[in-house]
Amino acid sequence: MPDLKKTLGYRYLQDTKYDRHDISSYQMPVINHTSSFKEYPDAEKVPLQRSGDHAGDDLWKVLQERRSVRNYTAENFSRTELSLLLWASQGLTAQAGKYFLRTAPSAGGLYPIETYVAVQHVEDVAPGLYHFDVRGFQLERLTSEAPGEFIAHAALDQIFISEGSATFIWSAIMRRNMCKYGHRAMRYICMDAGHICQNLLLAAEALNLKACPIAAFYDDELNYLLELDGEEESVLYLAAVGK
Ligand SMILES: Cc1cc2nc3c(=O)[nH]c(=O)nc-3n(C[C@H](O)[C@H](O)[C@H](O)COP(=O)(O)O)c2cc1C
Repeated sequence: MPDLKKTLGYRYLQDTKYDRHDISSYQMPVINHTSSFKEYPDAEKVPLQRSGDHAGDDLWKVLQERRSVRNYTAENFSRTELSLLLWASQGLTAQAGKYFLRTAPSAGGLYPIETYVAVQHVEDVAPGLYHFDVRGFQLERLTSEAPGEFIAHAALDQIFISEGSATFIWSAIMRRNMCKYGHRAMRYICMDAGHICQNLLLAAEALNLKACPIAAFYDDELNYLLELDGEEESVLYLAAVGK
């Protein structure tokens, strides 16, 4: 088994970080575009029923309506809504032997993703940066200042982030997954983060909140905010949520 720092996944993560000071010289390889849709024109066609045929079933409506939304009102959302978003994204739902299973699937049941929440305007939750304690189903307060503007600046100045009620930040503790899957782990870690974020986006839609996933950010600036070393644990993905 390779050392964490010798895995392809680790090297990939380090080599693809955005850095404010050299992003203008970031080497973007020239790769030709290809069609967004693949079709087999000669194949027999089997028409499918559209989700509209299930009108009234909540999940289908949520899937149809979800959109990335980047403008929010100054209205707070509630602590209950924040709780539901956290539960939908990473809540515990069952135990199978030594594994505590969650709303989102995870390769090998290893759960390498940690959730942090930057609270800007949430009723009954003071602004600040929090860590989500999955087992205790509670937030652990790390700072007492709302870091929305810092996050927006670190996310390539995507100002809308600071206007949301809360920003979810997902980091990966890569070793949790790499100790089992080695070089292949990075694939699974990113898939886990995608599942979690999608659960959050659908839950936000179901609650009539607005959300947007975000992956453009200066990695080490967000790692600095969360006091992560960027090696054992590093920020992977964000989502802004508001009304
Ligand atoms: C991996 C990933 C990264 C994204 N990063 C950003 C981002 O940094 N900023 C942003 O405004 N939107 C971001 N988006 C949102 C996409 O722009 C959006 O999903 C896409 O335009 C399709 O629109 P829809 O989500 O409304 O269907 C990201 C989406 C994904 C899946």
